[in-house]
Amino acid sequence: MNHSLSEKISARTLHVGVVGLGYVGLPLATTFAEAGFHVIGIDVDQQKVDRANTGKSYIPDIASTTLQALIDTGRLHFTSDYSALADIDAVSICVPTPLRKTRDPDISYILAATQQVRAHLHPGQLVVLESTTYPGTTDEVVLPELESSGLKVGVDFFLAFSPERIDPGNSDFDTRNTPKIVGGITPACTELAQAFYRAAIEQVVPVSSARVAEMAKLLENTFRAVNIGLVNEIAIICEKLHINVWEVIEAAATKPFGFMPFTPGPGLGGHCIPVDPHYLSWKLKTLDYTARFIGLAAEINSSMPHYVVNKISEALNEQRRSFNGATVLVLGVAYKRNVSDVRESPALDIIQALLSRKTVVIYNDEYVPSLAISDQVRHSQPLSSGLLQAADCVVIVTDHSYYDVPWIIQHARCIVDTRNMTRAYNDKKVLLL
Ligand SMILES: NC(=O)c1ccc[n+]([C@@H]2O[C@H](COP(=O)([O-])OP(=O)(O)OC[C@H]3O[C@@H](n4cnc5c(N)ncnc54)[C@H](O)[C@@H]3O)[C@@H](O)[C@H]2O)c1
Repeated sequence: MNHSLSEKISARTLHVGVVGLGYVGLPLATTFAEAGFHVIGIDVDQQKVDRANTGKSYIPDIASTTLQALIDTGRLHFTSDYSALADIDAVSICVPTPLRKTRDPDISYILAATQQVRAHLHPGQLVVLESTTYPGTTDEVVLPELESSGLKVGVDFFLAFSPERIDPGNSDFDTRNTPKIVGGITPACTELAQAFYRAAIEQVVPVSSARVAEMAKLLENTFRAVNIGLVNEIAIICEKLHINVWEVIEAAATKPFGFMPFTPGPGLGGHCIPVDPHYLSWKLKTLDYTARFIGLAAEINSSMPHYVVNKISEALNEQRRSFNGATVLVLGVAYKRNVSDVRESPALDIIQALLSRKTVVIYNDEYVPSLAISDQVRHSQPLSSGLLQAADCVVIVTDHSYYDVPWIIQHARCIVDTRNMTRAYNDKKVLLL
């Protein structure tokens, strides 16, 4: 079994399935197609499937021309029909892992996808979970479901966890050149998963179990959440001490060892950093342990949008304006630069808070043409000198690289800059975070 899969990998005759075609799944599917494999992408969202099949990418990191070229080779296509899995040798599951309103993990997408995979599980198949989740999900949740088919792991089929580390908008690192961790349920599972990813990804890092792989991903993201929390608190501390935090970070970053610079900001966003550490703390709660760093970082990071709103209040106050009736222009609503993803974006909290204070809010974000907030759809306004001049306060929430900072400074009446974009221009009308 093991042997025939390895041979298919070497011969590039292995058929690959990718379940969930979002920020993670679509790039993964194209990476395997580029490596010469036949790939079928499966998603429950028929609109995504139809768009992808016509070569229209909805993920900024994947160019439509790349997608179309791969479709033209006949090696890549997309469907919402899970029966396609019957002919698939290796399947990677890349479905969402959000939080419930209670901030507990919602693994219902993993469960639904696993049940579909189980319905088509056949001898010799490799199944890999890529969705970020708490340690134990692969062997406590996915494994029993797959083995309920009567097939045995490590013998009839192979199961591993391999966290996705994609960094949307990062032009230096993509799926292919970002090292990939794999941890299988059995040594044979690890070996096969390693061979599978090696065929398309430059560096694969095997670990001793799926749990180690799951935990490694959560360490990476918790590390970021905690360090961002720390630097956000340092920003608050520096403000109280009348010290420029950005200058402090720049100075500290000249140390060539033992320091890694993180930058403060308006709060955390995206599907990963604000969400993933809660998967870990939830798991620990079931073991009667409180993950304190995670809790504290979340508390500080989630207070940052309010901190920004206070800065806006100061800026308006300088102009003898109150929130009520003032016009605030928000520059950037995506959670980070040069992406279109607004999930968990701090801009949403800032806009909500301004609206609840009866402020008129307009926004510009070329990556996000429209935005639904408080049951109302708003549209990105084209940037013009008139738009900048009309705003009582301009707030830079996302540092998209298309922003022409000197021009913004020239026309805006007053700016709250949460990303230090204006650093080169020591202008009095700018309030830094
Ligand atoms: N976005 C990132 O930067 C990133 C980075 C690393 C890891 N991750 C992790 O990868 C996973 C996927 O994240 P994403 O950002 O790609 O999510 P996404 O929401 O962009 O995409 C998930 C896709 O899965 C589809 N889907 C949902 N249920 C399905 C089912 N039962 N069968 C088939 N398709 C289904 C959805 O329609 C959607 O298209 C998450 O666990 C996330 O934490 C994300």
